[in-house]
Amino acid sequence: MNKLYYFALCLCAIMIMSFHGQCQKIALIPVPAKMQLTEGEFQINKSTRIYCSTNDSKHSAGVLSALLFGKAEKGKVISGVPGNAGKNYIFFKEVKDLPTEGYRLSIKSQNVVLEATGSVGFFYAVQTIRQLLPLRVKASEKATLPSLPNLTIEDYPRFAWRGLMLDVSRHFQTLEEIKTFIDYMALYKLNTLHLHLTDDQGWRVEIKKYPLLTEKGAWREHNTQDNDCLNRAKEDPTYTIPEKNYKMIAGKKMYGGYYTQDQLRDLVRYASERCITIIPEVDMPGHFKAAVDLYPELSCTKEAGWGSLFSFPACPSKETTYEFMKNVLTEIASIFPAPYIHIGGDEVNVDSWKKCPLCQSSIQKKGLKDEHELQSDFNRQIEAFLHSKGKKLLGWDEITEGGLTKEATVMWWRNWAPKAPYQAVKNGNDLIMSPDFQYYLSAENLETPLRKVYEYEPCPADFTTEDAKHLLGVQACFWSEQIPNFTRLQFQAFPRIMALAETAWTPSSLKNYTDFYARVTNSFPRLDAMKIHFHLPPVEGLKDLTVFTDKATLNLRIPLQDMKVYYTLDGTAPTQNSSLYTHPVVIDHACKVRMRSYRGENFSEIREGNFEKQALREPVNPVNLQSGIKRTFQNGRFESTRDLNPDQNSDVKVVQNIETGEYSGREFYGLIFNGFIKVEKDGVYEFISTSDDGNVLLIGDTMVVNNDGSHAASERSGMIALKAGYHPITVKYHQRGGGYELKIEVCAPGESRRPLSADELFH
Ligand code: ACM
Ligand code: ZN
Repeated sequence: MNKLYYFALCLCAIMIMSFHGQCQKIALIPVPAKMQLTEGEFQINKSTRIYCSTNDSKHSAGVLSALLFGKAEKGKVISGVPGNAGKNYIFFKEVKDLPTEGYRLSIKSQNVVLEATGSVGFFYAVQTIRQLLPLRVKASEKATLPSLPNLTIEDYPRFAWRGLMLDVSRHFQTLEEIKTFIDYMALYKLNTLHLHLTDDQGWRVEIKKYPLLTEKGAWREHNTQDNDCLNRAKEDPTYTIPEKNYKMIAGKKMYGGYYTQDQLRDLVRYASERCITIIPEVDMPGHFKAAVDLYPELSCTKEAGWGSLFSFPACPSKETTYEFMKNVLTEIASIFPAPYIHIGGDEVNVDSWKKCPLCQSSIQKKGLKDEHELQSDFNRQIEAFLHSKGKKLLGWDEITEGGLTKEATVMWWRNWAPKAPYQAVKNGNDLIMSPDFQYYLSAENLETPLRKVYEYEPCPADFTTEDAKHLLGVQACFWSEQIPNFTRLQFQAFPRIMALAETAWTPSSLKNYTDFYARVTNSFPRLDAMKIHFHLPPVEGLKDLTVFTDKATLNLRIPLQDMKVYYTLDGTAPTQNSSLYTHPVVIDHACKVRMRSYRGENFSEIREGNFEKQALREPVNPVNLQSGIKRTFQNGRFESTRDLNPDQNSDVKVVQNIETGEYSGREFYGLIFNGFIKVEKDGVYEFISTSDDGNVLLIGDTMVVNNDGSHAASERSGMIALKAGYHPITVKYHQRGGGYELKIEVCAPGESRRPLSADELFH
């Protein structure tokens, strides 16, 4: 080969490799609306200057300068426009043709230009650069100033409300911890921090008019949630309750904490410098125990504490209640400049209102239908007061129940109240989607995995353009019953908030889970550098139950190269001193496998699975078999399949398959399928059910799959060892409103998973 040709070929190959290298290095989350990578890079050096021509960009220019050169290098930011020479500068340029939060970023080998209409857009352009910077950047490492890959980006958010909610009542986070949390939010272009400041378990905001609320209401002896955490902490240190959150009061060690108004004003300022609005929530008239305990005259009968389901709420029919609420809200309004105040409104135990003469006479006098309308009347009075303070009312979706004004904003959380979002937008109310099943990130990662968070589409397909205008955005919630410290908060938040951020910001047409997941794993070194104890991708291959007749094999798939898995077979908690998984493990006795993965400083939750040795179950020999399975239909609202109790009026029919059939799309009913399944060979059978709401599958009277309860589409499986022949099978299913699905699949010995077919069902 001609030497020159060979040289050209090598050069070409190097260029292509380096371009791909660059692509891999770029792991922007959320992915920008438009991005074009080009070859080359902008090398930052000691002479690089940052220009900003407007006051709006000064703050972000300072942030960028500190990122690139360290805080001490003040002289790098120059007010003005770069000259014609066009080299070695970064220019914050004000333009008119972008949305408020949008920005353009052009990185060329000669210079970098950031364009925006004002401060917010400039801030987000800098956050994008923050993710483009290599990790080695530290103020002290001037010799290795970073380079930025050449590219052009034009970017703007899909939704205006990109929120996270932090419950600081159940467990407390310090001001410094919340500030760090705010820093995380800014990196992913999240812009709303909803602070759940008060609840039954603790009052966390200083109210000068009612000092008892924090003097006493911010402190408690251990409750059941604390005890749960302490129990879990025996095997998992991320459940430890920090000593800093205790105080000795009258000789007792009390848990708690609160924020003074000055501290909260400082927090508001800190957040606002990062383009984040803090929305305060004072949950009322329910979830108000922290106040009612101290001021019992707030409740209907001065009863405080816990009622049958929730705590005793404030009485909405006493003038003194309104006086209290208004005094509290006046101080809240003075601390938080946000346009909204969240008044909760969820889970009110109206039993005490039913028994209260004042409440009942109020219902009569005002011509209200019931206690829900009484709550709605309370909301309206509070809303009118908030308006007088220049604030808008925000509440959980229960506020739709007794009727709404047009101005209130609804935060939808109850997947099991699927009509609420429609009711809200059709009534002209703004709406924020925060569904429990997808966005309550206080749920374990295994229950609400990354993919489920990512793939949730917040705009219902049947929303009209007009409806969609009311959809402000999305929010994930961290309820803190089981989040007793900041490390646990990190573990619950990462990487799932990255999924929420992409839904909140990126056009839905650009979302792609495979691509997102690659960017998430590319981000792990950055999360390491930020000292975030994030949730590791789960190890695959351990089922809840593995049934075997002779021997079984534990065969794990470990998702990361730098991840190690340790396991035990004797029920003890795995540590790095336990057995290291290096190859498939043969198991020949009944045992519980417990495993935990480790990667650097990070470790996962403990996963466990039972291995059960079974003898093959004998078949039965039914007579007069016919094809199809008997299906019994029962009308009603059932919490679980245990509540099904068909009588002679229930509709019985023979059907070919185990599915919802003609009831598809209907709400509130149950189905029981009864018959026989024919299995062709001896061995272990796995049955898999996907259902919304619950279902169970029994062979004979052995429960094989328990997928019961009221829930969204969820998959569960179970195994059983069967001898070839006919076995009695029962499948129960219930539909409790909202989504509906019932699918039964089977995995026969040595075969892959497939739907249960009509020709193996009999009655
Ligand atoms: C809620 O989860 N109770 C709003
Ligand atoms: Zn009352």
